[in-house]
Amino acid sequence: MTATGTPRRAGSVRAVHFDGSVLRAVDQTLLPWEKIELSLHDAEEVAAAIRRLAIRGAPLIGVAAGFGVALELRRERTLPALDRACAVLCEARPTAVNLRHAVERVRAAALSVPQGEMQAAALQEAREIEAEEVAASAAMAANGAQLLSGVAAVLTHCNAGALAAPGRGTALAVIAELADRGSLAKVLVTETRPLLQGARLTAYELSALAIAHQLVIDSAAPALIAAGEVQAVVVGCDRVAANGDVANKVGTYSLALAANAAGIPFVVVGPTSTIDPDCPDGGQIEIEERGADEVRSAAGHPTAPVGTDCRNPAFDVTPSHLITALVTERGVARPVDRASVAALCSKR
Ligand code: MRU
Repeated sequence: MTATGTPRRAGSVRAVHFDGSVLRAVDQTLLPWEKIELSLHDAEEVAAAIRRLAIRGAPLIGVAAGFGVALELRRERTLPALDRACAVLCEARPTAVNLRHAVERVRAAALSVPQGEMQAAALQEAREIEAEEVAASAAMAANGAQLLSGVAAVLTHCNAGALAAPGRGTALAVIAELADRGSLAKVLVTETRPLLQGARLTAYELSALAIAHQLVIDSAAPALIAAGEVQAVVVGCDRVAANGDVANKVGTYSLALAANAAGIPFVVVGPTSTIDPDCPDGGQIEIEERGADEVRSAAGHPTAPVGTDCRNPAFDVTPSHLITALVTERGVARPVDRASVAALCSKR
């Protein structure tokens, strides 16, 4: 509830929206300074928006990719067009498995009907994926808030809110639910270099939701955790391997180490569409390596000598033994291991 006792809005923003003929998407690279809506007409345009992080966040890129396949079939109802669309979308980003899962589902739906009905079937499947993710967000919020009942201060990393997943997001949905239930007094938000998803997007969403928060530089977080400033770390995820290892935004692993050293819960929140049962462990997850310019600059301004050699892994892997609980729409895995992840996968 807000100070006036009214429930918070379901989501502070609608990041993507299929309007019947085009996919409309808020360009997240420009937030919070400009709110520009992109109109995307085909698979390549959707893939390009995903590649440059105008559309980002694991569940959201899955949803957008599903619509991307349907859009391509609107232009050309043929099998080569379907194959082309699936390939370009799957290649857009390698780490979040939601992308591949959504594309495979929409492709299978299109192939299950006569060619003349492919487009309608693809669109219906894309809409179903979106609706499932909205429902999953609400269920994760309830499951996570029950797990963290009474917690007054949490730290989160990157952006796992309404800009990253339909509904209220994943980790941020749990945080909003804790705030709605009245226990949460403070959220520490890490900046999340190099692209500042925490500073630009999570601070924007929390402020729209009227949830008290403080922004910290990434390197301040471990000492603040050690000093007892938060009672839990709550983050999203891009891929959960079969053994429970989790890939999420780079910097997540060091937060897990800090949470474990401080003896506080390290909680990962994500829908089951983020679980990859075919990936045995975190070592098999492809980690996206992005361009050096993202490291050599901040918010478009140079921060290092021209030509400085860089590494820019966009994600890291947190081993399952550092994860206190995995919150999904189907329930909570705790401890997080091969058996508990398999149990979530087989649960309906
Ligand atoms: O590179 P990004 O901004 O797409 O990375 C996003 C994250 O790492 C999120 O934590 C993750 O996708 C979960 S989103 C609900």
